[in-house]
Amino acid sequence: MMEPSAKPQPAAIVIFGASGDLTQRKVVPALFNLFLDGLLPEKFSVIGVARKPMSDDEFRKRLREGVDKFSRRGRAADADWQKFAANFHYRAAAYDDAGAYGSLAEQLTQLDKSWDASATRIFYLATPPSVFETVAGQLGRAGLYKERQRARIVVEKPFGRDLASARSLNKSLGRIFSEPQIYRIDHYLGKETVQNILAFRFANAIFEPIWNRRYIDNVQITVAESIGIENRAHFYERTGALRDMVQNHLLQILCLTAMEPPVAFNADEIRNKTVDVLRAIRPIPREKVREFAVRGQYGEGKIGEKIAPAYRAARDVAPDSATETFAALKLFIDNWRWQGVPFYLRTGKRLAQTVSAVGIQFRPVPHQAISYCSVGDWRQNCLMIHIQPEEDILLSFQAKQPGPIMCVSPVDMRFCYHEAFQTPTPEAYETLLLDVMEGDATLFMRADQVEAAWSVVTPVLESWESERPKDFPNYASGSWGPESADALLAKDNHTWLSPSIGLGAKKADLKS
Ligand SMILES: NC(=O)c1ccc[n+]([C@@H]2O[C@H](COP(=O)([O-])OP(=O)(O)OC[C@H]3O[C@@H](n4cnc5c(N)ncnc54)[C@H](OP(=O)(O)O)[C@@H]3O)[C@@H](O)[C@H]2O)c1
Repeated sequence: MMEPSAKPQPAAIVIFGASGDLTQRKVVPALFNLFLDGLLPEKFSVIGVARKPMSDDEFRKRLREGVDKFSRRGRAADADWQKFAANFHYRAAAYDDAGAYGSLAEQLTQLDKSWDASATRIFYLATPPSVFETVAGQLGRAGLYKERQRARIVVEKPFGRDLASARSLNKSLGRIFSEPQIYRIDHYLGKETVQNILAFRFANAIFEPIWNRRYIDNVQITVAESIGIENRAHFYERTGALRDMVQNHLLQILCLTAMEPPVAFNADEIRNKTVDVLRAIRPIPREKVREFAVRGQYGEGKIGEKIAPAYRAARDVAPDSATETFAALKLFIDNWRWQGVPFYLRTGKRLAQTVSAVGIQFRPVPHQAISYCSVGDWRQNCLMIHIQPEEDILLSFQAKQPGPIMCVSPVDMRFCYHEAFQTPTPEAYETLLLDVMEGDATLFMRADQVEAAWSVVTPVLESWESERPKDFPNYASGSWGPESADALLAKDNHTWLSPSIGLGAKKADLKS
């Protein structure tokens, strides 16, 4: 989160795995937008490293295709692109080739000399996780970690596949880099609407007094996708929804929603407060996982007018796959603020809609003095924070209908990002890359955060891995997930709020 004025120091960004999808689709379009916005340092250089042989020109051509296709601004203007791309170079090398790291070090020293500066050095691991430790180890051997003020390493998700592997990766990185040098990406934290949860809660005086168990009945976090696994079967088959989404994105959203007010907006303070939340989450007992967690896998169904095939019918998916494409959890936070308030989390693929939202369901009025003309129009107060694709906040409350009798029905007040600010929203990677250049780790995961998040999901992971699901596939593509996810809330007399709750929505729309 950058100060409004400054530009970062000169920076050399080394991207490992630069021939891959992430570099082309996210990292370089984000850098290009920062460049267009005048936010990149005057002096910057990007060195792509990967095994695939490519010339500088071929590398630039590939990146240009990515920008034209994936940038939020659409096709790049030639003049802008030429100026930007002149800063890009490519080195074909094996990730364990010590000599390559030696000559990389020389190249970085030469850059410093030509810029007459001690440039920030960013080593971005955009490779599969299997290569993370190799690259970090070689950077260590080449001494490229040493100047701690300016050498930074960026590690993509997934960070481990369970608590043990996350700990081991933390240890390996920690042998070379100090914790403030390590930037673990959870790109959800770079989203404007996710950061706005902090602004909403802590830059306003009126919400904090009601942000607790006295006024809030339950909290619901939904990250739903209507797409399936596309061509990612190899990755997804060994990952599943719990690892892919809940351990990182959903738990981070929960942390921002539930954390105590920070004393200051700095990396340590914000991260201390989020770790406090993770540590206060009541552990789910292994033998009671069924009471707190639901898994699902999509079968065939209809998305719009099209028939969508089942997960098990996808290429490279086992015909009897036990991988979950849907996960829902009920969590409690054992502290004064949240005691007894359930936090329901759900995520899934091939759901009815692509939407990410936090729903805050407030308690009902203590006594209904008004005789309602229509009970069907009754709704508890609800706050819906839409993270994507809609970017807005809705407060739903009861209002009197015009007319001679006292009759109330729900209405909404809405804040919409685009209408209020009329400026395009930067992509999460733009925010995050700028933060790395600035040395601001607030929106990155600290080692203890990652491990605490893995601890929360570990009993569920272990239980699901030890017992094959008997009912898969258990939800139709295009639905809101398995019936057991509704039952999870029904036990507490709750229902899932529809994340598409919006202007004029009636109670019927609220049911998913
Ligand atoms: N793509 C996304 O949108 C996205 C989103 C979030 C997180 N991530 C994470 O970002 C990292 C990179 O993702 P990506 O989508 O760019 O992956 P990718 O295209 O599969 O891999 C990036 C590059 O890594 C190199 N590589 C090294 N060892 C490899 C191996 N064993 N198998 C395959 N490639 C290997 C390849 O380059 P050479 O063969 O030329 O060396 C490849 O071009 C991953 O950790 C991923 O989980 C990606």
